[in-house]
Order: sequence, then C-alpha cells, then structure tokens
Amino acid sequence: MKYPPVHYHSYLGLDPLLDAQHPKSVEYGKPAHDELLFIIVHQTYELWFKQILFELNSVLSTFQKPVVAEVEMGMASARLERIVSILKLIIGQIDVLETMTPLDFLDFRDMLYPASGFQSYQWRLIETKLGLRMGDRLAYNQSPFYKSLSESQQAEMMEILKQPSLHDCVEKWLERTPFLQGENFNFWESYKEAVNKMFQDDINTVNRNPQLSDEIKKKTVEGLEQTLKSFDALFDEKAFEKLRAEGQFRLSHKAMHAALLIQLHRDQPILQTPFRIIRALLDIDETMTTWRYRHALMAMRMLGQKIGTGGSSGHKYLADATGKHKIFGDFFNLTTFLIPRSQVPPLPKSIADRMSFHY
Ligand code: HEM
Repeated sequence: MKYPPVHYHSYLGLDPLLDAQHPKSVEYGKPAHDELLFIIVHQTYELWFKQILFELNSVLSTFQKPVVAEVEMGMASARLERIVSILKLIIGQIDVLETMTPLDFLDFRDMLYPASGFQSYQWRLIETKLGLRMGDRLAYNQSPFYKSLSESQQAEMMEILKQPSLHDCVEKWLERTPFLQGENFNFWESYKEAVNKMFQDDINTVNRNPQLSDEIKKKTVEGLEQTLKSFDALFDEKAFEKLRAEGQFRLSHKAMHAALLIQLHRDQPILQTPFRIIRALLDIDETMTTWRYRHALMAMRMLGQKIGTGGSSGHKYLADATGKHKIFGDFFNLTTFLIPRSQVPPLPKSIADRMSFHY
C-alpha cells in the first residue's frame, strides 16, 4: 500500500465528535430526554456552516483576484450551487427539531441562559462574507451584533468587515463584463422602448378593468409608474445614484446593466456561467431567507411571545430580520424589468459574434 492504513473511526475523529454532547439537564441531575436532540441538531448545523464557509472562502478567493480567471468560473458556480444544496438540507433539519414539543423544550430551556444562536460565529461569518453589512442589520439589544461574540472573534470579525465581501467582488466582476459598450450599441434604447411598452400595456389593462374601483386603479397605476421610474433610472446614471443613495439599489449602475444583459442573453454560451452564478446567488439569498422564516416560525411555536434566551424579543426580532437581512436583492428586483424573449431586441451583429464560440 502506498499510504499507511486508515481506520474509519479515527479518520473521522469519532471519539471527540461523539463525546461532544453534554446535556445540561443531565449535569443538573434532571435529565430531559429531548436535550440530546437539541444539541445534535445545533452541532450538525455548525458542521454544515463549516462546509459552507469552506466553499465560500474558495469562491471568494476566485472572485477577489483583479481578473477572475475564466477557467475557475465553472468551479465557482458549482461551489455556490453546493452551498444552496446544503442550505436546503439544513432547512429540513427544522422538521426534526420540531418533533420536540414546547413542553419538552421547557424541561431544559431555563438551563441555557444566556446562550443563543445569536452567538453563532460561523453564521455571522457566512452572512458577513456574503455581504450583509453592519448597516443592513437590525439592532439587537441596542448593541451591534458582534458584541455577542468572544473578544478574539470580535477582533477577527472587525478585520473581515474591512475585506471585500462576495457582493463587493461580484459587483466589480459584473462591472468588468465586456460587450456593454460598443460601436452602434443601441441595444439599451430599443430595450427601454420594449419595457416602456410592457408597462404601458399593464397600465392600460388596469385602467380598462371594470372590476377595479377608481381608487384601486389609481393606486395600482401609481405603483406601476413608480416602478417605471426606477427602470428609467437604470439608464440615467444621476437618477440611479440618487435612488441608490436612498437604498433602492445596492449594485452600481454599471453592474446592474451587466446583470440585466446576462439575464436577457443567458442563452449565449459565453453568458451561461455568469448566468448560473447570478442564479446561485439568488438561490442563496432565497434559501437563507427561507431558513430565517422557518427558524422564526419554530421560535414562535416553541416560545409563543416569550423572549429569546439571548434576550431579544424572540419571534418578532427573527421575523423582522427575515424581511431585512437580504444581500442580493437587486437580482430579484431586476426580474421586474425582464420581457419575453420574443420582444428582446436583437444584439448588434458585432456583439453577437463576439459572444459566440468559433471553431
Ligand atoms: C428550539 C429551537 C430554537 C429556538 C426556540 C430558537 C430561538 C431563537 C431566538 C429567539 C433567537 C433570537 C436571539 C435570542 O433572543 O436568543 C435565535 C437566534 C438564532 N438562532 Fe435560534 N432557535 C432555535 C434553534 C436554532 C437552531 C437549530 C439553530 C441552528 C444553528 C439556530 C440558530 C440561530 C441563529 C443563527 C440565530 C441568530 C439569527 C439572527 O440574528 O439573524 N437556532 N434563535
């Protein structure tokens, strides 16, 4: 044999792993049957968080380079997709934990103060490395989120907050997308017309609907006109920057154009991988939001209106965080401006040629 023999048990470090469950209820002489499940579910989450961070760090190292190597793109997209699969799997773990009833939970909950998932360093790393900024977060106990971490974790977190997140890197990568400028590239003008027509058709449909009251029609049309305004801003950098400063957009003007172009022309082979990357980022945001939502419901089910062991308002804090803690929201908003393939204006030949593969 080329390498020394390995034993399953020691290779997987099963001794320390299987010896890492220490229910407090046993320690205090009041064994609560469900505490082992509670510990194991949390531990498996942390193991999966470790794997997510491993994938995320590798994707970040690809994207942090000044020029993203094309050969690494397929791998980066596959690793982001792996993160999505893991997130889907761990949402399912909530079903297992919910086999514990609130009464079973109460048997040991008082023994856990003030520990809380809020102190999960790996979860905070995932959020921060993906691009959740300090200002995006809800205030927790009137103090910044990192105050719940240990001193060494706080120091490390301060450093990580200074580094570019995946959102920052993806923005720069999108800004470098070729094909946006070119001779006779009047694509955006034609596209604008097609989108304006789509919105005008919607406005006419609303106005003609006999089932809607005048008041509802007015409100709906105002909403559509507002959306159209933000679409117009996509083509007027000054107006865009104003909306961006107000928090309506996070990505830069250039990056938004590139993302829209990729979405519209994803059938071009050269844009397939960029499209898959954008889709995986959307999936990550969506699955993290789904996890937050399921976790908030679980907290509601277990605690009702009680406060969390970490001292937050419990379900309310978690539900508010579900709505607020989003990272790649711009990709979702871009969908508003997608039109049917048949109406997308054709690309100028020079650009279409540059986008295809030649043999
Ligand atoms: C009985 C089950 C659970 C209940 C009742 C519960 C409850 C809560 C509550 C109330 C909070 C808000 C902070 C606080 O006041 O403590 C919280 C935060 C958190 N919990 Fe849980 N939790 C449960 C299970 C889990 C599991 C299995 C995980 C997996 C790691 C987890 C991870 C987290 C995380 C990451 C946070 C911070 C969320 C944020 O700030 O956005 N929780 N939990």
